[in-house]
Amino acid sequence: MAGAADYLRVKELIALTHERESMTIYEAMGGVEGIRRIVEAFYPKVQAHPLIGPLFPDNIRPVMERQTLFLSQFFGGPPLYSEQYGHPMMRARHLPFPITEERAEAWLGCMALALEETGMEPQLRRAVLERLKGPAYHFVNS
Ligand code: HEM
Repeated sequence: MAGAADYLRVKELIALTHERESMTIYEAMGGVEGIRRIVEAFYPKVQAHPLIGPLFPDNIRPVMERQTLFLSQFFGGPPLYSEQYGHPMMRARHLPFPITEERAEAWLGCMALALEETGMEPQLRRAVLERLKGPAYHFVNS
C-alpha cells in the first residue's frame, strides 16, 4: 500500500525531473568551473593540431580566459564576456584568421576530445557539440 513516504518520494522525483529539464546547458556543464576545465583540456589539443595550432599565440592563457567567459555566456550563464569585452561579434573577431571548413572541423574535433576527456556524459556532449557547430561553420571565411 502506498504510504505518505512513497507519496513524498514521487513528489521529490517529479521536482528533480523538472529541475533537470529547466537546467541550462551551462548548469549541466558545471557552471563556469566546469567550462574552465573543458577549456583547459581543449587548448593543448588546439595548439598541437597542425591545421589550427599555428593560428594561436604561444601565450595561450589570455585566450583561455576569454574563451571561458565567452562559453559561459554562450551556454546560458551570466554575460561574463560582454561585461568585459562588449558585444561578442565573434565572426568579426575571427576575420583576421583564415578559417577554412577543414579548420572548423579541426576545432570541433579538438572540442569533442576535450569534452570526452572531462568525463561529460555522451548525451550532454552531443548537445554541446551541436550548439558549437553553428558558430564554427559560420566563422568559415576562407
Ligand atoms: C572554426 C574554427 C575556429 C578557429 C580556427 C578559431 C581560431 C581562433 C583564433 C586564432 C583566435 C584568436 C586568438 C588570439 O587572441 O590571438 C580565436 C579567438 C576566440 N575564439 Fe575562435 N576559432 C574557431 C572557432 C570558434 C568557436 C566555434 C568559438 C565559440 C563559439 C570561438 C570562440 C573564440 C573566442 C571567445 C575567442 C577569443 C575572442 C577575443 O579575443 O575576445 N572560436 N579563435
